[in-house]
Amino acid sequence: MNKGIFITFEGIDGCGKSTQLNLLKEEFDRRGMEYIVVREPGGTVVGEKIRTILLDKNNDSMTRMAELLLFEAARAQITEEVILPALSRGVNVICDRFYDSTSAYQGYANKMGRDLTDFLNLKATNDTSPDITFLLDIDPQTAFKRRSGRDGGEDRIELQGLSYQEKVREGYLELARTEERIAVIDADQPADAIFEQIRNRIWDLTD
Ligand SMILES: Nc1ncnc2c1ncn2[C@@H]1O[C@H](COP(=O)(O)OP(=O)(O)OP(=O)(O)O)[C@@H](O)[C@H]1O
Ligand SMILES: [Mg+2]
Repeated sequence: MNKGIFITFEGIDGCGKSTQLNLLKEEFDRRGMEYIVVREPGGTVVGEKIRTILLDKNNDSMTRMAELLLFEAARAQITEEVILPALSRGVNVICDRFYDSTSAYQGYANKMGRDLTDFLNLKATNDTSPDITFLLDIDPQTAFKRRSGRDGGEDRIELQGLSYQEKVREGYLELARTEERIAVIDADQPADAIFEQIRNRIWDLTD
């Protein structure tokens, strides 16, 4: 049996990951393709508990190392419990954020260093690399305006402001320069124009 395709969506908060992921789900449904959708951090009982800790605004004394290790703990759980079994059953996996988020947020923006985050990413996932990653690239101001139209307010990480998001964006773009699996997509376009590019890249992979 063929392995499933492992697809991840990355980018700063509000860049349009969930929007594109939903369009991809509809496309997979139309084509009768089997898939699961997971989100990071979370996606397992243990992981959702870790997510609550990570996003809780009251946890303002969380150290950067604690934050990094919590992300990796949730990732280790979802990789072993959900992602790897699905891929080996031939089921496609669509993931809303994966380890590139750690490289960009903790490694680059939080200055923990890419050596450390690369090492932990590898260990937490047993070297499970996405087949393709869509980096939805957008300037933080535009993403912020999009997000402000949404309910629920900002979470602990979103509260860190525009200059932080700018560093995260730089971190992602630096990563994309060396990682061939990362497709950088200009996310300041209508959602259907973005999706058209995503769909073409995925069918290139499956043909
Ligand atoms: N291409 C687009 N053009 C204009 N608005 C968009 C576009 N894509 C998404 N939006 C809107 O921008 C907001 C943020 O989009 P979305 O929730 O998909 O981003 P996200 O990357 O998943 O955010 P988060 O990181 O916070 O989960 C939503 O209100 C969505 O409807
Ligand atoms: Mg989202």
